[in-house]
Amino acid sequence: MSQLIFEKSRPHSNKMTIPPAEVGHVDINKTIGEEYLRTGELPLPDLNEVETVRHYTFLSKRAYGVDDGLYPLGSCTMKYNPKIDEWAARLPGLAGLHPYQPVETVQGALQIMYETAQWLSEITGMDQFTLQPAAGAHGELTGVMMIKAYHNKRGDRGRTTMLVPDSAHGTNPATANVVGYRVEEVKSDPRGLVDLEDLKSKLGPHIAGLMLTNPNTLGLFEEDILQISELVHGCGGLLYYDGANLNAIMGIARPGDMGFDVVHVNLHKTFGTPHGGGGPGSGPVGVKKHLEEFLPIPRVDKRQDKYLLEYDYPHSIGKVKEFYGNFGVVVKAYTYMRALGREGLKEASQHAVLNANYVKEHLRDTYHIPFDRLCKHEFVITAKNQMDSNGVATMDIAKRLLDYGYHPPTVYFPLIVREAMMIEPPETESRERLDDFIATMKEIADQAVDNPDVVKNAPHNTVVRRLDEVKAARNPVVRWEESGDV
Ligand SMILES: Cc1ncc(COP(=O)(O)O)c(C=O)c1O
Repeated sequence: MSQLIFEKSRPHSNKMTIPPAEVGHVDINKTIGEEYLRTGELPLPDLNEVETVRHYTFLSKRAYGVDDGLYPLGSCTMKYNPKIDEWAARLPGLAGLHPYQPVETVQGALQIMYETAQWLSEITGMDQFTLQPAAGAHGELTGVMMIKAYHNKRGDRGRTTMLVPDSAHGTNPATANVVGYRVEEVKSDPRGLVDLEDLKSKLGPHIAGLMLTNPNTLGLFEEDILQISELVHGCGGLLYYDGANLNAIMGIARPGDMGFDVVHVNLHKTFGTPHGGGGPGSGPVGVKKHLEEFLPIPRVDKRQDKYLLEYDYPHSIGKVKEFYGNFGVVVKAYTYMRALGREGLKEASQHAVLNANYVKEHLRDTYHIPFDRLCKHEFVITAKNQMDSNGVATMDIAKRLLDYGYHPPTVYFPLIVREAMMIEPPETESRERLDDFIATMKEIADQAVDNPDVVKNAPHNTVVRRLDEVKAARNPVVRWEESGDV
């Protein structure tokens, strides 16, 4: 293991000095209570600038990202992030704004927010958007709160249940539960799509709505979506669109036209911002007219060429995030949309679908395909063949991929597929890089037959071997202590 920066610390090692403050003196005793004042020196590591920079540069080289190589993590859309987006988000006139600045001084920023909301409305077929939510899950919370507000305002308080397919991402049932709904699961049929008969059997006056991802987490388009929408609306429920997979259908099909009442979009998946690592993300939520009055405040409005922040919406669910959301991510999405344009966005989706089908077709003789149909931007294969013949599991294959310098695909999800590997090759990967990945997957499958132990004991080349992920999640130790515990 590498040393932590605190362990590298040496007393009086000529550490960096902090320049004097440029702001005027503040009598801290008058602003902060006595009990909060520091009494000793801050225990920062004693290290000079060169060593500090080397330490973090070393650490940064151990991370793997989309700029290092193929990142086929299904459902998480690790797309290439155009550098122009990062440039735009760092422009001093945008990055240096203060959220409390008077609106007259931030007209450009408000215009970016206003136009982003408009374009998202056009792409998804909705009427209005909020940019406040900080992630997909947060967008779900916002959307489902609006569904509840809608039913409540109509005095329709008997709607206690939210339907969620068994292939759904875990955030869907979790969200419905947090908003106070009972969650009922809808089965998938042998096609990997919503089982219409099961859905029908669960509908009734107690249904608040259905949360659906389309294409779903198996990468399959819900062909019966118009019928599903009719059925759910027929019993008075609303349709929630989890837009995590919108990158498969941009410019081709719109959730608004499929009958969805509320959608969230993951800007950090579909519109060019890194996903993962804890953010920051952005999960804007769009609604149809009948839900517009419940959108969070403030809303960015435009009157006579002036942009403003409007609070006067008495039925709003209120604020869901401080200020106006993660503005930097919105700037990146805005730049992404402007750079690609209408046709470019459509092409991005087409390439995502093409790449996924290309890889799937080349792996079909090697790996088991549980739902063997034309896929959208991602697909699910399994290690069934390898497991049945030599006891090689999906986790072993994922770990072996690390030896070849790849980030593994999503594993053991969706939950309805045994030994699942969910692969999403980004739309920007060239055919050569896809071929490399296919060749590696085949080589690992060969090893699973000829030398299964090399796969079962992988990874061999990484800094650490297999970690106890459960312990790391359940018992995280994130603070350095002098005892040496990390
Ligand atoms: C289908 C689906 N829904 C929802 C989410 C939640 O999005 P976020 O991670 O931005 O909260 C994800 C995340 O990967 C997802 O794949």
